Amino acid sequence: MARRTKIYEGKAKILYEGPEPGTIVQYFKDDATAFNAQKKDVIEGKGVLNNRLSEFFMTGLNQIGVPTHFIKRLNMREQLVRQCEIIPLEVIVRNFAAGSMAKRLGIEEGLQLPRPIVEYCYKDDKLGDPLVTEEHIAAFGWASQQDMDDILSLALRVNDFLSGVMMAVGIKLVDFKIEIGRVYDGDFQRLIIADEISPDSCRLWDIETGQKLDKDVFRRDLGSLTDAYTEVARRLGVMPKSSTPISKPTLIN
Ligand code: TMP
Repeated sequence: MARRTKIYEGKAKILYEGPEPGTIVQYFKDDATAFNAQKKDVIEGKGVLNNRLSEFFMTGLNQIGVPTHFIKRLNMREQLVRQCEIIPLEVIVRNFAAGSMAKRLGIEEGLQLPRPIVEYCYKDDKLGDPLVTEEHIAAFGWASQQDMDDILSLALRVNDFLSGVMMAVGIKLVDFKIEIGRVYDGDFQRLIIADEISPDSCRLWDIETGQKLDKDVFRRDLGSLTDAYTEVARRLGVMPKSSTPISKPTLIN
């Protein structure tokens, strides 16, 4: 079989050239990193779960008219996506105080925010993805004013969709991060949701117990990350228990 051309390898995913021009194959690795890769581990099955969960969320968004890069899932770890120019921003939407915002402002984690708060970080691992304002984004030309209007509206639509989907299965969407890509259709350009949407890029808390079902389980050493992600997938009906391919072989006595 012909060797595929690797375009880029990130911390959690690898991108390969796709079968058609303008397409990319996105491969989900089992690697987990936190604190800008200072903490690292391989979590067996994480890539399979995130491939499925990102497919689930992106498909739902496409169906309600929020454009995403997702085309189709190819296999357990790969999906075909539309190639786009990634805008160098991490767009974070917060519904409850947590993580870096709770720390920065000295607010208790879990406080419900009076309205969703949108934050932007400049995507640069060497700098640790610093928080930036729209002034920086405009001054350094990372996105235009029209882009920023479109990004805000996309981010809030994703927030409404994800909050509703998660609430229906007893999970609170505390916050999440998305990345935005630019695509060209003839003379027109438009923005779409890219990268992934998964428990790696969201904070998800059980509504009843407050149990964390996202990457904070890894960041804060709270238990099994695969158990947490499998629970999210199970509740959403994404991966029925019987077909969960992540259990290790067990000895039968
Ligand atoms: P933060 O509170 O650490 O800034 O994270 C906000 C949200 O962004 C949270 O849902 C986790 C997600 N996130 C990423 O997806 N990638 C990252 O590198 C970081 C730091 C956070």
